[in-house]
Amino acid sequence: MAARPKITVVGAGNVGASVAQYAVEKELGDVVLVDVIEGIPQGKALDLAQAGPVHGYDSALVGSNGYDETADSDIVVITAGLARKPGMTRDDLLFKNAEIVGSVVEQVVRRSPSSILVLVTNPLDAMVQLAWKKSGFPAHRVIGMAGILDSARFRTFIAWELGVSVENVTAFVLGGHGDTMVPLPRYSTVAGIPITELLSKDRIDALVKRTANGGAELVALFKTGSAYYAPAASTVEMVEAILKDKKKILPCAAYLDGQYGTKGLYVGVPVKLGRKGVEEIIEIKLLPDEQAAFDKSAGAVRELVEKLKL
Ligand code: NAI
Ligand code: 2OP
Repeated sequence: MAARPKITVVGAGNVGASVAQYAVEKELGDVVLVDVIEGIPQGKALDLAQAGPVHGYDSALVGSNGYDETADSDIVVITAGLARKPGMTRDDLLFKNAEIVGSVVEQVVRRSPSSILVLVTNPLDAMVQLAWKKSGFPAHRVIGMAGILDSARFRTFIAWELGVSVENVTAFVLGGHGDTMVPLPRYSTVAGIPITELLSKDRIDALVKRTANGGAELVALFKTGSAYYAPAASTVEMVEAILKDKKKILPCAAYLDGQYGTKGLYVGVPVKLGRKGVEEIIEIKLLPDEQAAFDKSAGAVRELVEKLKL
C-alpha cells in the first residue's frame, strides 16, 4: 500500500488546481492532476510542488495528459468540463459536459476500480448520475459536490447579516445544485439557535435568494468563468472526510432509493461521509412546503437526467 493516499484530480482548471492546492496544503495525500491541455497539469503540479518547502508539505504532485499515472487512486475528483459563462445556465452545459465526464469516467474506473468518485462538473446532479451509470460502481462510491458549497454561501451571508463568526453558523441546503435548490432556514443555526429566532422572514428570504443565486453572482463578476475557491474548499472537505474516515455529516449529491420520497436519482441530501463513501443517508423531517420545494428541485434534476437518457 502506498504511504500516502492517492488523489487524482481530472481537470486542472480553476477548480481542479485549487482542489490540488488545498489537498496538498492539508497533506491529504499525493495528487495526480490530469487535463487535456498540454503543459498545464504538468506546470501546475510542478509549481505546487515548489510551494511545498514554503508551506511545509511533502505530498507528491504529478501532472499528466494521460491516465496511466492515476492507477490505483483512492479518490478521483472530476472537475473536467466547461464552466459557466455569463448568460449560460448550468443546464446549458449538459450535453458537452456529459460527453467529457463520460470519457473521463471510462478512463479512470479502468485504472482505479476501487476508487471513490467525487463529481464537481456541472450540471452537477446529472453528471453524478451519469458517472454512476458509466462507472458501474456501487452508488455509495459515486458522490457529487454542491450542497457544501451552497451551504457555505448561506453560512457566509448569515454570518455577515448577524455580525458573528462564520464558525458559529451551520446551514443546510438540500436539493439539486441549480436555481431550485432548497435552503432550509429551520435547520440553519447560529451557535445552535435556529436563524428563524434571530432574523425576520424578509431578511431570511433575501439571504435565501442570494444563496440560490450564489453561483450566478460570481459568474457576473468574473465574466469569463465561475467560482472556484469555495467550490474547491468544499470538495476538499469531502476528500478529507472520506480519506480520514471522519463519518462527517455533509450535504452531498447522493443516490436516493426512496429517501425523501425520491427513487433512482442523485439529489443533494445530508449524508454521512467516511472511508466507504456515502455510509448513510440522513433523513430529516421536512414540512410540507419544504418537501414541495425538494420535490420540485428533484423534478428539475430528473428532467436533465431524462434528456441524457440515463
Ligand atoms: P475551467 O475551465 O477553469 O477548468 C476546466 C478544465 O477541464 C480545463 O482546464 C479543461 O482543459 C479541462 N478539460 C476539458 N475537457 C477535458 C477532458 N476531456 N479531460 C480532462 N480535462 C478536460 O473550469 P472550472 O472553473 O475549473 O470548472 C470546472 C467545472 O466545475 C465546470 O463544469 C463548472 O461548472 C463546475 N463547477 C461546479 C461547482 C459545483 O458546485 N458542483 C462549482 C464550481 C464549478
Ligand atoms: C457555482 O455554484 C458555477 O455551480 C457553480 O459557483
